[in-house]
Amino acid sequence: ETAEKAGFDHFMLKEIYEQPKAYRNTMMGRISDDGRSVVLNEIGMTAEQIRAIRKVHIVACGTAFHAGLIGKTVIENLARIPVETDVASEYRYRSPIITPDTLVIVVSQSGETADTLAALREAKRNGARVLAITNVVGSSVAREADDVIITQAGPEIAVASTKAYTSQLIAFYLLGLFLAETIGTRDSAYVAEVVSAMHELPEQVERILESADVLKQIAESLAKHNNLFFIGRGVDFAVAQEGSLKLKEISYIHSEAYAAGELKHGTLALIEEGIPVISVITQEDLYEKTLSNIKEVKARGAHVLALVNAGNEEEVAKSVDELFSIPKTLPLLAPALSVVPLQLIAYYASLARGNDVDKPRNLAKSVTVE
Ligand code: G6P
Repeated sequence: ETAEKAGFDHFMLKEIYEQPKAYRNTMMGRISDDGRSVVLNEIGMTAEQIRAIRKVHIVACGTAFHAGLIGKTVIENLARIPVETDVASEYRYRSPIITPDTLVIVVSQSGETADTLAALREAKRNGARVLAITNVVGSSVAREADDVIITQAGPEIAVASTKAYTSQLIAFYLLGLFLAETIGTRDSAYVAEVVSAMHELPEQVERILESADVLKQIAESLAKHNNLFFIGRGVDFAVAQEGSLKLKEISYIHSEAYAAGELKHGTLALIEEGIPVISVITQEDLYEKTLSNIKEVKARGAHVLALVNAGNEEEVAKSVDELFSIPKTLPLLAPALSVVPLQLIAYYASLARGNDVDKPRNLAKSVTVE
C-alpha cells in the first residue's frame, strides 16, 4: 500500500496531486488537432438526434452530483438546452417528466452506485437516451448507458473524491462544447478559445498545489472550529457545496454551503464573532454582489477566507481576513481550479484532527445499496 501511495502520506493527497495529469488525460484524443473542435467519438448520437434534444436531466450522488451542478450551468450556457440536476435518490420518486427527447446524463465515479443505476434504468424505461460519465470502464453504469464518456482520472482509492470530480468537470466542458458545436449555439472560434484555456488548467492547478503550505496553515486553524460556512454565487456556489461536503466527509466539521445572496434570508442569524466563512469569488459578473455579501458577514464578526481571482487580491483584501489567489481562467472553467484549495483545506483539517483521511467513519467509496 505504501508503494501505491507513491511517497504521499495518503491516497487522497496523491489523488489531489494527480489532477493535472487527470485533466490532460481526460482531454487527450477529444480535441481536434487545430484546437477548434471537440471530438467525442464515443457518442453515438447523430447530429439530428442531438438537435432534437429538448431537455437534459443530470442525475448523480455525492460529489458526482456536485459536478452535475456545474454541468447544468455549462450545458445551459453553451448549448442553450434546459437542464435539471437531481440527486439520484430523489429523482425517481419525484415522478420526473422523462420523454424520448430528454437526454439523461448519469455521473458516477465508480459506475456502481445503486441509486444512480436505478435512475439510469428509470430513464431508459421512459425512452430517454442515457449518457454516462464514469471513471470505470465496464462498470454497470457504463454497460447500461447508451453513450459513455470515460473520465481518465485513473483509479481513485480515497473515499473522498477529488480527481474524479475534477475530471467530471472536464468531461462536462468537453460535452458542453460538443453539443454547442453540433447545435450551432457556439462557433469554432469560441470553441478554440475555451479549448485553449482548458489546456492551461493543468499547469494552473500545479501552481495552486505549490501553495499547499499556506492552505495547510489555514486548515489547521479551521480545524479548531466546530461550525463554518461556505458561500458563493453561480458556479462558485456549486464549488462551495463541494468544498463543504469534502470538509464534512473527512474532518467531521459541520459546515453549510450557502448561495451568498440567500444568506440574508435566514442563515445570517448564525453568523457570530469568529465563525469562519470561506467565500469563493471567481465570477467577475457576480464579483460586486458577492463582495457585498462578504462585507455583510464580516460586519457581523465572521473570520473570512476568500478564494479570489488573481488581480482582485488588493480590493478583496480590504474586506477579508485571509485570501488565496486563483489563477485567472474563463468564468465557466474556474471551478476546475477553485475546488483544489478546498480539497487541500479538507485534507489538512482532517489531518489536524487526527482522522483517518482515506477511510472516514461511516462512509464507503461506493454505495451499492439504496
Ligand atoms: C459515495 C462516496 C462519495 C461519492 C458517492 C457517489 O458516497 O463516498 O465520495 O461521491 O458515493 O459515488 P459515485 O461512484 O457514483 O460517483
